[in-house]
Amino acid sequence: ECVPLETAFFQHKEHGWISRFPTIVNCLVAQKYFVGRSTDVFVSSLPKSGTVWLKDLVYKIKRRGGNQDHKNDLLSPHQKVPFLELQVYASEDHVLDIDSLPSPRLLSTHIPYPSLPTSLIDSGCPIVYIWRDPKAVFVSDWHFFNEIIPSEPGKNHPPLTINEKFECFCNGYSIFGPYWDHVLGYWNAKKNGANILLIKYEDLMVDPVVQLKALAEFLKLPFTKEEEKDNIIHGIINACSFQTVKDSKMYESGNTELLQVQVNNTTFLRKGKTNDWENYLTPKMAERLDLLTVQKFADTDLI
Ligand code: A3P
Repeated sequence: ECVPLETAFFQHKEHGWISRFPTIVNCLVAQKYFVGRSTDVFVSSLPKSGTVWLKDLVYKIKRRGGNQDHKNDLLSPHQKVPFLELQVYASEDHVLDIDSLPSPRLLSTHIPYPSLPTSLIDSGCPIVYIWRDPKAVFVSDWHFFNEIIPSEPGKNHPPLTINEKFECFCNGYSIFGPYWDHVLGYWNAKKNGANILLIKYEDLMVDPVVQLKALAEFLKLPFTKEEEKDNIIHGIINACSFQTVKDSKMYESGNTELLQVQVNNTTFLRKGKTNDWENYLTPKMAERLDLLTVQKFADTDLI
């Protein structure tokens, strides 16, 4: 029911059958076991949209003031706000116990909205969804998977050239399904009344103060006049900025286990820019992605 079988795999000319949604098993495990609470807060996204940044911001907004927990300071945002399908339910053995965590729990997911655990949707908990220009998502994704996925032939995820990977991306063969469907899934759910805030990576870059205020209000923890006077907003923005995080101790040596693979924390920070895609995509490739976006998002306020 989550993903129609005929669209779940595609045949690559050299590498054979490749799943377009290889995390589907973990999504099913999450659907089966996850028990939602209305007090949960979810960070949701497609990989490479700025998830780690938003996790850090949400954590700092929710845990500010009396809620601060300094023993977690050296943990990566992925440890403080774990992914349901990549960490909590990375296997049937439930790698992390979230049922005994006190509320409010901060959790995250890359699962497309229509495939989210029913219990999560029914809880009505707030979901913050971050999305990003597909050209930037594609380039970031290509680098990320080149770096973490072993390149020996015969592995589940054979390395693809940028042109092969681009063809896959345009045709919707991505790890959590098609880019445009993913964004539209959350956008449509919000339009239909779900408790979702959509934030665009590029807007967060251009005007972090406005976005952070909106985020805090959405989480029902607006910044007080006092906090504004004390520059708390700028303090959070600076603490979560690309350079600050890159220079922090946690990124020097730490690893995060995702789907039982140790991923070095430095892998989650590459360039942190809005226009780095210009160095990798030809004008023709960029035009193709822009055209697809205009077509797919035609009836929305996303463009
Ligand atoms: P680039 O590869 O374009 O640099 P995700 O967390 O969803 O995997 O997204 C990773 C992308 O977000 C990477 O993009 C990464 O550099 C960028 N990123 C991570 N932390 C950031 C921050 N604090 N500010 C801006 N961009 C950040």
